[in-house]
Amino acid sequence: MADQQARTSGDKRPTEIPAIRWEEPPEGPVLVLLDQTRLPAEEVELVCTDASALVEAIRSLAVRGAPLLGIAGAYGVALAAARGFDVPEAARTLEGARPTAVNLSVGVRRAESAHQAALARTGDPTAAAVAALAAARALHQEDAEASGRMAAHGLTLLDELLPAGGHRILTHCNTGSLVSGGEGTAFAVALAAHRAGRLRRLWVDETRPLLQGARLTAYEAARSGMPYTLLTDNAAGSLFAAGEVDAVLIGADRIAADGSVANKVGSYPLAVLARYHHVPFIVVAPVTTIDPDTPDGASIEVEQRPGFEVTEVVAPQVAGTGAAGGIPVAPLGTQAYNPAFDVTPPELVTAIVTEEGAVSPVTAESLAGLCARSRPT
Ligand code: MRU
Repeated sequence: MADQQARTSGDKRPTEIPAIRWEEPPEGPVLVLLDQTRLPAEEVELVCTDASALVEAIRSLAVRGAPLLGIAGAYGVALAAARGFDVPEAARTLEGARPTAVNLSVGVRRAESAHQAALARTGDPTAAAVAALAAARALHQEDAEASGRMAAHGLTLLDELLPAGGHRILTHCNTGSLVSGGEGTAFAVALAAHRAGRLRRLWVDETRPLLQGARLTAYEAARSGMPYTLLTDNAAGSLFAAGEVDAVLIGADRIAADGSVANKVGSYPLAVLARYHHVPFIVVAPVTTIDPDTPDGASIEVEQRPGFEVTEVVAPQVAGTGAAGGIPVAPLGTQAYNPAFDVTPPELVTAIVTEEGAVSPVTAESLAGLCARSRPT
């Protein structure tokens, strides 16, 4: 980890630490990440001075969540360019760091294209590096704006679908400001409901094995002052049966052209439960998460993670790092099935909310219409 240094966050309050930022100290440009593997125990920043350090941070989940992976990927290209590395080579390594969230390659390619175009136009590597950074900054800013628009569209939809009174929302994994340039995707909708006085409770799935719900969503919910309760993933069924869930809100890592949604493993069982109990199952994601080049759910590559994440209870400090240090909960040598994501078929999704509005029912046609409106040729 030669070019990735840890830095404690000093006296900053948690709300002042962004998930990602670009800095230009005299020694050269760096990308500073809030190390999400250490939350909520410690707020520690990771300083990446090259793309390979960023790749390591992506693989270890120090930086994670689809929209943030896109932003990180774009800044990674800008970092490689600014530091004089081979940009196409850095771009391919960054893109390959994790396979499921399409935003990662969208972000990488956007900055790479800006770099290539500027290089072709000017022949000047410095100008090309400036162009790559401008592309990364633009993506970062657009994501923040998209987050605000998703929150507004999502709240309107909740108010249409649910009876008046407070909403009780169940969420899975982590979808707030830790994964976004703004306030996130599904979490941003819950936050909007909270601010409007219409959130009765946010039910937070702990999200085994790496506990993004317990470690990160509960951290964000606590900071926001919203009423929230943590549950084990296995408790969701009895919560539905007790009539305690009005809607499920989740994010997405990739939405195929037919509307199949890849998200954190455990999302699909929630969709099945929601259908059985007649509860809306709503996916909130920016348009960049819709991948027209992936035709259906079966074509989505689902990342398989190491077995130790399941056979051990992984402490926050080692979550995702591959480092030993978790507490064993299975006999030595036990094999584990550890897909990071699952795929929910479109017929189980009530609506997909994007910054361009909501799509319901979710079909190949309705999604293509949305993409055509938002990505004019
Ligand atoms: O493995 P992770 O922690 O990167 O998984 C993240 C998720 O599954 C999120 O729910 C998804 O990226 C949507 S984030 C708005």
